[in-house]
Amino acid sequence: MRIAIIGGTGVYDPAILSDVRTRTVVTPYGLAVINTGIYNGMEVGFMARHGAGHALPPHKVNYRANIWALREIGVERILATAAVGSCRREVEPGSMVLVDQFLDFTKSRPSTFFEGGEGGVVHTDMTEPYCPELRQILYDAANELGIPARNGGVYVCTEGPRFETPAEIRMFGMLGGDVVGMTSVPEVVLARELGMCYATIAMVTNYGAGISPAPLSHQEVLDFMSANVANLRRLLMTAVGRIPAERHCHCAVSS
Ligand code: HPA
Repeated sequence: MRIAIIGGTGVYDPAILSDVRTRTVVTPYGLAVINTGIYNGMEVGFMARHGAGHALPPHKVNYRANIWALREIGVERILATAAVGSCRREVEPGSMVLVDQFLDFTKSRPSTFFEGGEGGVVHTDMTEPYCPELRQILYDAANELGIPARNGGVYVCTEGPRFETPAEIRMFGMLGGDVVGMTSVPEVVLARELGMCYATIAMVTNYGAGISPAPLSHQEVLDFMSANVANLRRLLMTAVGRIPAERHCHCAVSS
């Protein structure tokens, strides 16, 4: 299997796949659960980042086990979804951002496979953290489907699980952040470390604190996602069908 989807908030089931089977993969970092199924004659993996019942908060997700397990079963390309808030007025709720950069504001997460010792000291290049080839495929597919999407954007990853203060959202905007979420780091970093292609469709569910006039709630994010998940699914599956067998990017050269 070469392609897998990591479903974020609001995307919990592999409904788009047929003949779904569940596999538990043992990794050096713990167990990971992957659903595998068929789409268009192709075997595709699906993983719910927060677990089937959204039981895991962003800082407790076992990112290392998840990415390791996907690589272990042969996955080279990952399409991930993420619910995000917007750091600027022009990036409107309901739109999608195909992110190409991140700013890392996480604090307490194991964020590398390379811990020194026998594994050696490795500093992985992050010039292009998100795969440009997958991003272009997603962008073309979004345009054809009439789904509003931006080709590129800066994802600010916070530690969570709390939402941000208005001062933080203001700061993130000044620093060049477009959207804010809690999961892309270290997921994208770990994929880069293993030479896998990784792309994120960030679905803007709300304006960040302070831009939004009302207090934020997780329920509001969940409600927004369930109202908009159909478009996300259409985009994912159109893109999956178009990923060529050969990779034309530099993602495989990991460090
Ligand atoms: N902040 C952080 N994460 C989020 C938000 C937000 O406003 N909306 C959805 N995920």
